[in-house]
Amino acid sequence: MLGGNQNMVRIRTARELDEMARAGRLAAECLQWICDQVVPGMSTQDIDDLQMEFARKHGVIPAPLNYKGFPKSICTSVNEVICHGIPDAKHILKEGDVVGIDVTLIVDGYHGDNATTIPVGEVSESTMRLLWATLEAQRQGILAVREGARIGDIGHAIQSHVEPLGYSVVRDFVGHGIGTAFHEAPQIPHYGVAGRGRKLRSGMTFTIEPMINEGDWQCRVLDDEWTAVTIDGKLSAQYEHTMAVTPDGVRVLTVQNDEGLWEPPGRWAPPGWDEV
Ligand code: MF3
Ligand code: CO
Ligand code: CO
Repeated sequence: MLGGNQNMVRIRTARELDEMARAGRLAAECLQWICDQVVPGMSTQDIDDLQMEFARKHGVIPAPLNYKGFPKSICTSVNEVICHGIPDAKHILKEGDVVGIDVTLIVDGYHGDNATTIPVGEVSESTMRLLWATLEAQRQGILAVREGARIGDIGHAIQSHVEPLGYSVVRDFVGHGIGTAFHEAPQIPHYGVAGRGRKLRSGMTFTIEPMINEGDWQCRVLDDEWTAVTIDGKLSAQYEHTMAVTPDGVRVLTVQNDEGLWEPPGRWAPPGWDEV
């Protein structure tokens, strides 16, 4: 097997975390830069072009390109697409859509992985409610991260925020360890039981990336073998950050500050968010 034992959870040194933070910060800046240019009428391929432009300018590698055969440099997941949407020149974004944008960069060998879901122009109130709930669920999941907590605590925090609102948590895709590889152990489900699962240890690096559906959690993968859609055609939203466990608590790495302070990816947030 390439890359050693895939079940082994790596513990990273402070130096490695600083490398990860550089990758994370650039991935966050890239996501922000792309989000600021999303307008109705552009295609999802235009988003891929922006990703390529950013990567070229900064001399870094977009991790999705050719990853297990993925044909593009970024994932663009519109409306009922849960994740892994493939950019397409024929897919034009229209007012009222939501688009999930998932950026992963490799910087000096380390991965930074982050995603956001943003409205295209004006969207309905019910759509905004799904986005806010998903963003808050991600935040609750991140707040559950500390040394000695268990992986189940993260999923529990996410699930118990969204299910009372009538939304569902996608099971088929999970957060993941990340570092020198795109996807490493452990898996981080976005549902679960508090107190269950592996203990979080200082030096672990992983993503939390809840996908929350307006309807049922079940999904289906299209014939392109990547695009995952909701089985009922209802909306799905996702937010993702890469983070590290440290003795001082969680350090979010995909942020545009040096302190590891949590920010919504794409700096998109509900009104009044800053006062919370
Ligand atoms: N960035 C995605 C994640 O959060 C993975 C995309 S895999 C790709 O794990 F091949 F579609 F790029
Ligand atoms: Co990820
Ligand atoms: Co991602």
